[in-house]
Amino acid sequence: MNLETYLTLDGSKTLYSKKFQEHYHSKNGAFTESQHIFIDLGFKFIEKPKINILEIGYGTGLNAIMTYKTNEKNPKKVLYHGIEKFPITNETFKDMGYIEYFNLTAQESIMFSKDWDKSLKISQNFKLLKQNVDFLNFIPKINYDLIYFDAFSPDTQAEMWTYEQLQKIINRLSVNGVFVTYCSRGDLKRNLRSLGMDLKRFSGPPGKRHIVRAIKH
Ligand SMILES: C[S@@+](CC[C@H](N)C(=O)[O-])C[C@H]1O[C@@H](n2cnc3c(N)ncnc32)[C@H](O)[C@@H]1O
Repeated sequence: MNLETYLTLDGSKTLYSKKFQEHYHSKNGAFTESQHIFIDLGFKFIEKPKINILEIGYGTGLNAIMTYKTNEKNPKKVLYHGIEKFPITNETFKDMGYIEYFNLTAQESIMFSKDWDKSLKISQNFKLLKQNVDFLNFIPKINYDLIYFDAFSPDTQAEMWTYEQLQKIINRLSVNGVFVTYCSRGDLKRNLRSLGMDLKRFSGPPGKRHIVRAIKH
């Protein structure tokens, strides 16, 4: 098995990829990291009534599930488009414990983990498209308001973080659109600035000194 479940310090599970030798989330807390970076600094920051989200690296679906659950409390019309080259199996999805923790219905669990390459209506306010494609070959066709960039780290997969790969998605970001990621390396920040993004620094989740939120001007 290439993937192993791993218990993080906040009690939530993540995956460890033997192929990439990297965890899917912070070992200090998968839920805590996802909440802080993607939900609090990303999703909650967007004030529009309709939000198109692009996620690079759909993985376990945790960011998608947390976005869905957050949206249910104060609904906006969300279109969530996740990109993933290596979808996990349904068995692995069940092993994560997210179904129980987030109290997902059988129907919701199926939609977050199966039925790739179809537009799925999870609720009146939340549409999900999980696209099984290599990000390097992905060509965005619509505009987005928010990008969750959750690829493996630049040390592991430098090809995902190149100027050209970032450019192709940032070109599709609306004005005032937001790009969030867990990485705060200098070369990423330089690339984002030269692509017309304003950067702001925030404290990171446990174990990470700071992260950046980038806004398109
Ligand atoms: C850090 S993990 C993402 C964690 C995920 N957001 C979650 O909440 O579980 C990185 C993901 O990128 C995927 N990935 C690796 N190479 C890729 C590629 N070339 N194109 C698309 N996805 C890729 C991996 O399979 C993995 O699911």
